Amino acid sequence: MVKVEFAMDEMTVDAPEGAKMVDVAKQNGSSVPFGCANGVCGTCITKIVSGNENLSAPGPRESQTLEMFGADDGTHRLLCQCTVHGDVTLDNP
Ligand code: FES
Repeated sequence: MVKVEFAMDEMTVDAPEGAKMVDVAKQNGSSVPFGCANGVCGTCITKIVSGNENLSAPGPRESQTLEMFGADDGTHRLLCQCTVHGDVTLDNP
């Protein structure tokens, strides 16, 4: 299990390694909003405070969407597009 801290919700939860972050967020009642769940709308852009290296690498679609929203600074991810492989701390974008 890995630890996922949702700083915006003052909540830390355990998640199975390899879990989809969209599932971790939704199943634990996080306030992260989701729209398309397909890496296009940008609704789920989230700041990665620490542990970015513990998330799966962004694919071309996610990279393109982050760039479109000006969030391609290496500290933001689309939670609908990544899986978690180690401890991570998230916050509002
Ligand atoms: S919910 Fe649309 S990009 Fe993640």
